[in-house]
Amino acid sequence: MSDISVSAESPSRSPLSEEVARRRTFAIISHPDAGKTTLTEKLLLFGGAINLAGQVKAKGERRNTRSDWMKIERERGISVVTSVMTFEFNELVFNLLDTPGHEDFSEDTYRTLTAVDSAVMVIDAAKGIEARTRKLFEVCRLRDIPIITFINKMDRESRDTFELLDEIEKTLALDTTPMTWPVGRGRDFLGTYDVVNGGVRLLEGGGAKTGATEQIDIADLGKRNPNLDVAEVKDELALASEACKPFELAAFREGHLTPVYFGSALRNFGVGDLLEGLGKFAPAPRAQDSDLRKVEAAEPRMSAFVFKIQANMDPNHRDRIAFARLCSGKLSRGMKAKLVRTGKNMSLSSPQFFFAQDRSVADEAFAGDVVGIPNHGTLRIGDTLTEGEDLTFVGVPSFAPEIVRRVRLTDAMKAKKLKEALQQMSEEGVVQVFRPRDGAPALVGVVGPLQLDVLKARLDAEYSLPVEFEVSEFSLARWISSDDRKKLDAFVAANNSGIADDVDGDPVFMAKNEFYLGYTRERAEGITFSNVKDVK
Ligand code: G4P
Repeated sequence: MSDISVSAESPSRSPLSEEVARRRTFAIISHPDAGKTTLTEKLLLFGGAINLAGQVKAKGERRNTRSDWMKIERERGISVVTSVMTFEFNELVFNLLDTPGHEDFSEDTYRTLTAVDSAVMVIDAAKGIEARTRKLFEVCRLRDIPIITFINKMDRESRDTFELLDEIEKTLALDTTPMTWPVGRGRDFLGTYDVVNGGVRLLEGGGAKTGATEQIDIADLGKRNPNLDVAEVKDELALASEACKPFELAAFREGHLTPVYFGSALRNFGVGDLLEGLGKFAPAPRAQDSDLRKVEAAEPRMSAFVFKIQANMDPNHRDRIAFARLCSGKLSRGMKAKLVRTGKNMSLSSPQFFFAQDRSVADEAFAGDVVGIPNHGTLRIGDTLTEGEDLTFVGVPSFAPEIVRRVRLTDAMKAKKLKEALQQMSEEGVVQVFRPRDGAPALVGVVGPLQLDVLKARLDAEYSLPVEFEVSEFSLARWISSDDRKKLDAFVAANNSGIADDVDGDPVFMAKNEFYLGYTRERAEGITFSNVKDVK
């Protein structure tokens, strides 16, 4: 495999900018079963270092202190928590932020994508673009996150290559440039042709492990597998080189073009190509938007934002780990940081670092890395930490819930406690809470049904609040805004029974169904209905 060169993203060569330039922080987006887990394992094999941020405690310790909601995780055999996995390869540091890909997923999945600089889109070669992939892709597009595509399961029956590329272009409005091209399909899949450097990498050869390509004449491939239609392969390659757009780094970085790799995660084939592409093309930590200015990653002063809160395993201590993405500078153990929302300083005395093989020996992290900050509820989703500057990062969004429920308390005397608990849970990002203006009981909104199970289990375990969820008359929520304050007030007055406040007191229009939402929207001149909201 050719060397991965560290791109010189910063003109100065200070130790900090060198550390920043060698980081690649990314996520994998895919539909369940496309092969994300298998690919993750194979990527980690390349790097050798595995650290799961979800495992904030040693196994033995964890067993004793698991709270009830961890039980959900155990029972369903799925991972509720979003983990960070870091590995080094060819002098580069890769931070892979895991997005739960199972049927049940939550806003965490979406928000994790706000903390990455690029994403790998894994597609099952037999299925093409599936629903979850499309949804996650849309979230990436909101932030113009560059996407690298890995078409997986090439060792099995797959769809026509042109058809797959065409589907990506049409359904996602994303140009494609194949970097490799499959030779043969299904049982006769021999390997891939390296479109950029020439040569073929064979599935049955040393190529999978070493990444080596062999200069084989296509005609000779027929000798290796008599079933291969050599003329067809030649035609396909000729057509591909004619029809496909050349790779353009700028278009990729802007999120308009995706380089495409073909392979088989199960057979560890093509994974090296993908990793090489990620190292070469994916951006090092990008500048982040704040309310004051753009913050460059190689700036010397530390800044970070919280994109996820995870309740710790111990229900008695209400410990929380805030996952923060470093946007600039260096974070060292013991340093003081300003929590901009409150203006107060906090000491980062025991941050969890995930980028060394042995977490205990690491005591600093750089822009692009993710650290876990233990706290007792001080930190919220969307919070900014700095070394003093009063800026707030923007772009950590809330997404309109796909399920809305009313919370029913079995013990009405505990209404006040429920209100506090829901406030806390919404600050943690477990659920969204909407308080109807007409005084009706609070509504909770979630993106995936598992969030409701987690909420129920945690209200019971941590607040002794047994609750049930009822279907409400509303099923959709949209944030409403207007440039004209009077118009907004008039709309709110006219639709009072459908207006609620979110956790920040911002108005939300609750609708019974899509039809009613569309009907209202058409008649609400000057009002913007949004299904995404920036967390301030
Ligand atoms: P996910 O995380 O995206 O949900 O997918 P996962 O990696 O768990 O893969 C889903 C299934 O597809 C697994 O099979 C896995 O072995 C298989 N798979 C993944 N990559 C490839 C590939 O490149 N080629 C082929 N042929 N299969 C692949 P399973 O039977 O559901 O699970 P298991 O019992 O094998 O673990």
